[in-house]
Formats: sequence, structure tokens, C-alpha cells
Amino acid sequence: MPDRKKVTIRTLQEKKARGEAITMLTAYDVVTARAIDAAGIDAILVGDSLGMVVLGYDTTLPVTMADMLHHCRAVARGARSALLVGDMPFMSYQVSVEEAVRNAGRFLQEAGMDAVKLEGGQERADAVRAIVAAGIPVMGHLGLTPQSVHQLGGFSPQGRSTAAARRLLEDSHALADAGCFSLVLESIPARLAELISRRIAIPTIGIGAGAGCDGQVLVTHDMLGLYDRFTPKFVKQYAALHADMARAFAAFRDDVTTQAFPAPEHTVDLPDDAWNVLLETLE
Ligand code: KIV
Repeated sequence: MPDRKKVTIRTLQEKKARGEAITMLTAYDVVTARAIDAAGIDAILVGDSLGMVVLGYDTTLPVTMADMLHHCRAVARGARSALLVGDMPFMSYQVSVEEAVRNAGRFLQEAGMDAVKLEGGQERADAVRAIVAAGIPVMGHLGLTPQSVHQLGGFSPQGRSTAAARRLLEDSHALADAGCFSLVLESIPARLAELISRRIAIPTIGIGAGAGCDGQVLVTHDMLGLYDRFTPKFVKQYAALHADMARAFAAFRDDVTTQAFPAPEHTVDLPDDAWNVLLETLE
């Protein structure tokens, strides 16, 4: 893809206004960030899904600010144009508004991010307002919010009752009013996501929320078939990299065992005469 202009929060808002779909993928390292950026994806989310798909935890709860900043820096070194969004980890914004602002600032000041994302609805409006007032763009996240997995009773779809759907609609308005520039809607009924997307002015980015959102995001390890423990039903797999990796590792083991590798083309050696001279000096 030819050089493109830096994507900003305004770019996403203009895309919504024009009815053009927004694309976002997660990344946690420099190589993936470079590939996503080169593919022309609008935004890269350094998600706290890092905890599950890279660090091997069962939930996102153990992920720390240090983990997030470390991986955000790697992604920032790889991406040139995509909007970079750093996910605020569990307990980095819930204790107080002051702590939320300070931690949000670290994503921009120390880790090269353009914006932060945090989970939750009306109860987070004060934190969102304060972070935005500090000049830091905030992406909201509603529906299945993995940091509340224990309160939600598991990683299950949300917003299926009238009360829950009404609450999600109210939360969406509250976050938009508080200054969020965009909203992730995760695992909620498609028609509810479409209604929210029509009713609020900021772009919605869906994951497991149907085609009526203003954009779509997937966890890269899921869409590449790299994460082998579980694949949510809403994921479309564009590759089978875990199987490819396993095949490659087994082929390497076989090649080394049978001495098919390294072959002459993988080997650096000296010409015979130079080697003979060298050998004499070594004797
Ligand atoms: O952490 C993450 O990757 C996310 C996406 C699922 C939106 O929050």
C-alpha cells in the first residue's frame, strides 16, 4: 500500500459521516504492527487481550500498566500511519479519576499511543471527561467487557434483555456525551448495535456485534488462527497460523534429525585453498 496519511480520530469520524467502514485490529509486537499498518488498517488496538493471547493468562485481569506500556512501545515502533490505541488495564482507571488521568497520560507520553481505551458505561463518565480534558482521546468499550468477567458471570453475550439493552443505549449516550471519540461494542445483539450506531454521533466499532456498526475489530491472534485455546463464534479466520507453525516446527525437527538442514545454500564456508592455509596455522 502506498504511503498514506496518519489516521487520526477525525479520520474515523469522517469515515462514519461518509458511511465508510472503519477497520481495527489488535497488535502487541513490532512485526504485526508493521504488517497491519502496511495493509492499510485504520487503527491498531494494543488490547489487554495481550494477557490471554500472548501472556497465557485465563483472563485479562492480571495485565499491568508495565505490560501494556512495554507492548505499546513495540507497536509504536512498527506502525507509521494507523491510529494507535492503548488499552487501559484492570485497576488503572477504576480507583480514582486522578489515577485514570495519570495512567492515560503514560500511554501517550511513554509509549507512543495516540489514544486510550477503557471499559464501562455511565460509571466511567467522570474519568472519561477528565482524561479528555487532559487532551487524551478516549475510546469506550461496552457490552462484553472482559475486565468485568467475574461480575458478568463469564465471557457471555450481553444486552439480551430489555433492561440490559436500555442500559447499553444509555451508557452509549453517556460515553459519547463525556467525550469519547469512538465506542467498541462487544458481543451484543446485531440489531441493538445497529440502533446504537444510528443514535450516537461517534463511530462504533463492533466485535461480535453484527454488520450494523460503523467499523469492525478483531483480535489478530483469533483472525490469524494463531491462538489455539478458544475461538469465539463471531471470529472469521483468515489464516491457520497455529497449524502452519506446528507444521514448520515438525519439519525443522525432521530436517535437523535427518541432516537435510543446513544444506550448502544455508552454509557459509571458506574456499578450499583459504581453508588449507587457515588449517596449517591452526595445527
Ligand atoms: O483487548 C482487546 O483486544 C479488546 C478488543 C476485543 C476490542 O478490547
